[in-house]
Amino acid sequence: MIKSTREHNLLDVIILAAGKGTRMYSNKPKVLHQLAAKPILQYVIDRAKELGSNSINVVYGHGGEQVKEVISDADLNWCEQKQQLGTAHAVLQAIDYIEDSADVLILYGDVPLLTTETLKQLLIEKQSSSLSLLTAKLKNPTGYGRIIRKKGNLDKNSSVEKTSIEKIIEEKDASGEIKKINEINSGVMVIDGDKLKLWLQKINNKNAQGEYYLTDLIELAVQSGEIITSYITADNKEIEGINNKIQLAELEREFQKKQAIKLMEAGVTIMDPCRFDLRGVIDTGTDVHIDVNVIIEGECKIGNDVSIGANTIIKNSIIGDGVTIFENCVIEESVIKSGCNIGPFARLRPETKLDENAKIGNFVEIKKAHIAKGSKVNHLSYIGDTEMGENVNIGAGTITCNYDGAYKHVTKIGDNAFIGSNTALVAPIEIGEGATIGAGSTLSKNAEAGKLTFSRATQKTISGWKRPAK
Ligand code: UD1
Ligand code: CA
Repeated sequence: MIKSTREHNLLDVIILAAGKGTRMYSNKPKVLHQLAAKPILQYVIDRAKELGSNSINVVYGHGGEQVKEVISDADLNWCEQKQQLGTAHAVLQAIDYIEDSADVLILYGDVPLLTTETLKQLLIEKQSSSLSLLTAKLKNPTGYGRIIRKKGNLDKNSSVEKTSIEKIIEEKDASGEIKKINEINSGVMVIDGDKLKLWLQKINNKNAQGEYYLTDLIELAVQSGEIITSYITADNKEIEGINNKIQLAELEREFQKKQAIKLMEAGVTIMDPCRFDLRGVIDTGTDVHIDVNVIIEGECKIGNDVSIGANTIIKNSIIGDGVTIFENCVIEESVIKSGCNIGPFARLRPETKLDENAKIGNFVEIKKAHIAKGSKVNHLSYIGDTEMGENVNIGAGTITCNYDGAYKHVTKIGDNAFIGSNTALVAPIEIGEGATIGAGSTLSKNAEAGKLTFSRATQKTISGWKRPAK
């Protein structure tokens, strides 16, 4: 008989995250290590939220206080497991939060790539039983619990070969024959709340590891005459856990590849999807071209016809249409309007605002500055705490001296000003519209509009002077 659909059933989620993560060799709890700049555990919590869970219960152990601090989410119930006595013991720590009538979904905090779609499939399977397992068929099943199915008795309603599941045998308890079975337990399961409570009490730790195995639920369910349903994952990466830095790196690449594919499907040109990293979210226009080794962080919006050069990092920024970013730029919390050219080797620090068609060249650092339309800072300059008008030309080596050792001061530069090379503008200072500043000047007073101002020692030539000789 088909039970009521999940929309009508409560869903309580238990996330097991008490494992020490010894093989990470880190002072940080395993589930706080990051995948694409987000803690591994956060991915699992996000999936639980997407499913519209009634409660999300996180079983924590080692380093738990740190986990609570970093994840800091009022919607979660935190359940401490003081000693790691096994997965069944871990689930028991959350049992007070579980409704009898709920479907209970058990997830692992160190399995970040599981998709909501897969979990929904599993929940559909669960509608026709009181326990449903997420399994996978692996070429190399070593280390995993093996799924023991009854011979024959094919599931006629399914395209996949499925016979009813009888039990799970852990690797460490398995004989040579059992070890050859390549269908494994992912660890993810859905079970009726009341049955979970009943069967958990019956689990003992009489096994090779002396642990309370959650997987023993299967045999208990079968003994009670229940049919176990299952869903076999289409993508085995989804069920992979992270136990060491090698697996962390593998799943990072897998995740990045999937993100790159989504962007390419939407029309973005990515020169090499293996050398692209998105650590956050990106919104892209049409004809965006991304060269190799680009890293996008936080939330970024990229307009149409934008080209991003190799080895560039963009963080929390908005890039307008037709912008060209050449190689090796670092752009952070900046707003860049259409038609600007940036780099190569430019650094735009927070609160940089570039209006249309501005040009920022090589070895230029900009911080908290507004640069109006068509202005150019083409070479080797520092522009900070500055309000710059339109069509200004800043010569190579110009520095705004914004810091007096205690306070920051503002530099104002009017439209059409021309600042000669190697000029130091000691702020607070104002350069009038259309002013010209002679190269090599150090100015600490305002420069009048439309006039030439310079501060430079007069050039002298001494006739008859001779170099000292040995
Ligand atoms: C478990 C399954 C195995 C399955 C495998 C999939 C059991 C007995 N075995 O084995 O069938 O193939 O996962 O990866 O369930 N945890 C706690 N508290 C504990 C023990 C574990 O919170 O006392 C957490 C861990 O942090 C981890 C998860 O539970 O997130 C799984 O624990 P782990 O020890 O890795 O399980 P396996 O022995 O690999
Ligand atoms: Ca174990």
